[in-house]
Order: sequence, then structure tokens, then C-alpha cells
Amino acid sequence: MNPISIITKKRDQQVLTAEELAFIAQGAATGTIPDYQLAAWLMAVYINGLTDQETADLTRAMAESGDRVDLTGLPTPWADKHSTGGVGDKTTIVLLPILAACGLTVIKMSGPGLGKTGGTIDKLASIPGFRTDLTPEQMKAQANHIGIALTGQTPSLAPADKTLYALRDVTGTVPCLPLIVSSILSKKIAGGADHVTLDVKCGSGAFMETPAEAHRLADALTKVGTAAGLKIRTAVTDMDQPLGRTAGNALEIKEAIRILQGQETGRFRDLCIHLAQITLENCGILADPAFAIDSGVALMKMRQWVTAQGGSTEIFDHEEWQSAPHIHEVLHLDEPGWIKSIDAETVGLQIVELGGGRKAKGDPIDYTVGIETLVQIGDHIPTNQPLFRIHAATQESAEATSKTLLTAYKISHEKVEPRNVIIQ
Ligand code: URA
Repeated sequence: MNPISIITKKRDQQVLTAEELAFIAQGAATGTIPDYQLAAWLMAVYINGLTDQETADLTRAMAESGDRVDLTGLPTPWADKHSTGGVGDKTTIVLLPILAACGLTVIKMSGPGLGKTGGTIDKLASIPGFRTDLTPEQMKAQANHIGIALTGQTPSLAPADKTLYALRDVTGTVPCLPLIVSSILSKKIAGGADHVTLDVKCGSGAFMETPAEAHRLADALTKVGTAAGLKIRTAVTDMDQPLGRTAGNALEIKEAIRILQGQETGRFRDLCIHLAQITLENCGILADPAFAIDSGVALMKMRQWVTAQGGSTEIFDHEEWQSAPHIHEVLHLDEPGWIKSIDAETVGLQIVELGGGRKAKGDPIDYTVGIETLVQIGDHIPTNQPLFRIHAATQESAEATSKTLLTAYKISHEKVEPRNVIIQ
């Protein structure tokens, strides 16, 4: 088969066969199709879309581009979770220990940062020593031992997604429904768990900005996932302001630890508990996720997880690890008012500008940088109060980000209600 004819077929809005899509997935997995042709094909898909059948065929081909973890013999139920991507979305880091504390075996494959959103793999890689490249055998042994295993896409698990994901990140082809569906579900199928919770993000910090788009994505994920034999639960959740207090790799790990230590409450903890509840329901398990946090068992699970993957447990004892040298606060200088909006997309893109995300494939990233959002929609803000805290590598980058962030929020002189984190 010739990649050029597959690119031109999609460019000309024709439907691709399962064989042609398998050829693309294999070519991405093995490196036999060069990046420039894959990038052209991704753009043709971005512009012309894929039919439901093409999406299902591509998903299967990407899942089959590597091995599938065989969980036979591990304690059941087996659960997995994935988010469609958001700014400050560190949910996995909190949710996996909660689910393991509630008795589930949790197996997950995650990706690095994508466009304006961060990625779980980059966040975990900020922990000194933490390994993100487990083999299927290592995943299985670890999950058997402590109930949690997480890896990035490796040469043996969903390798086609590893290549396509990295190219989408730097070619403007991320917010595309069939590419999101096949990327997420190929990893879920290869991961081996059969109960899968999908957190479909909606708003300026997500790839689906309107509820209608988010529901369309949730429906497509459910349809393709169910056909592949997965028991899917979806939640559509708010991403119209940064999630929680921090966005940026190491900062988000520190926030996740504070949540598991019971030091913070609010929308982000509420979201983690909701996703844990629907996952437990889907698995037919009666357990209380809030108790898993309050009793300290979820924190203990996170310690076991970090230790098992080679990470330093010093991260639990203090917050001085992976810290940026320049901290800069952005103040609200105008009249007092209520926070009406905070543009999560601008916050996400500024993290890329600070060096916390990639502009070209394979770029190194700075784990220390990020942005703390110190207010939420609905908060009252007096004059001269801090809105954001920037963690930057240089004074100049902190100042440039500060200028941009001043344009990223709106104030109302009438009271504004806080937003619910769960949309549906
Ligand atoms: N997460 C993924 O793994 N892939 C996407 O395309 C979006 C979010």
C-alpha cells in the first residue's frame, strides 16, 4: 500500500477501508511511514473527519499495533480511567490511589502533554526517579502487588498512539473527535482493564468547548468502547476555568498530594470523589471514596505506587522539590467585583510559553514551571488581591506571562454564582 494514496483519498473526502487504516497505524507504530506523511494524513482527517466505522477501525488498528496487557489472575474488578484533557487536570494522580484503596485493581496507560492541556505522564515524570515505561509484565506484577500500575505508551503498548499523539501535539490536529476517540480507546483496550470511566471535559480549557460537542464526544467514546467490549461510564465535567489550584507538572503533583493528605477541599476534590463513585458503581463495589481519603489509605496507596515505580518518596515530606526560581504574583488592580470568567485556554497556553509544554516534537520540558490560579468563578475579589501566582524559570518569562494573564479573567459588579464541576 502507498501512504500517498491514503492521504489523497482522505484529502478528497473519501472513506478509508479497515486495511488502509491498519496500514497507517502499523506505519506509525513501526516508523515505516515518515512523520511528514503521518502529519499530512492527520491534517486531512482533522479537516474531513472519519465516519463512525472508520473511527472504530482506526481504534482497533491502533490498539492492535502493540500488545494487550492480559490481566488474567489479578484480583477483580479491573478498572481504568481517562480524561479527554484539561488545564490543571491532575485527576488521575488522586483517583487511582482512591480506587486502589477501595479494593479495585487499577491499570492505566497515559500520555504526555497535548496542546494546551498537560499530560499525566509529564506530571508523573516530574517526580525524581519515577518510571513511566513499564512493560506489560511489569504492569501486571505491580498491579498484583499494590493494586495500581500506570505507564506511558511504550514500544509494546499502543505504539501507534505514541507516534500519532506526539505529532498531533505539534501540528494543530488535537481537537478532532475521531482522533481523540481512537487515541483514548486504543490505550484503554491495550491496558487490559474492562471497566473504564471517561471524564469528558467541556469548556475553554478542553478540546470540546461546548456541551453539545462534549456530549457528542461522550456518545462516540461510549459507542466505540462498548463495541470493543469495555464497560464504559462517562461524566461530562466543567473545564471552563483551570481545574483546582495549580496547572504545571510538579505543581500539580504537589496539589494531588495535598488533596490525599486531606489538606484541601473544593471542586477538584469533589470531581475526584464523583469519578471514584461512578467507577465503583460500574464495578459493582460498595465503598466510600471520601473515607479512602480521610482515613489516609489513599495516601498510603500513592506512596506505594510512587515507590513501586522508582520515584522518590521525599515528595510526600516537603514541597521544595522541582521548584521554579522565580515566583511572581498577578494582582487585580481594578475595582472590587466578582470573578465572572477565567480563560483556562490562556492559562494552558501560557504554561507552554513558560516551558512546561512542547512546541516541537521531542522538546524537553521544564517540570518546575506553572501557574497557580488563586481565585475561582464566583469569588469576590477586592482591589490589589492576587489572582495568579506564576512559577517561572526567568524574571522575563514571568513578566510576559503576567501581562497575558491580566487579559485572561473578567469581573462582574453583580454577584456571580460558582460553577458546578459536574455537568452531567
Ligand atoms: N487524551 C488522549 O489520550 N488522547 C487525546 O487525543 C486526548 C486526550
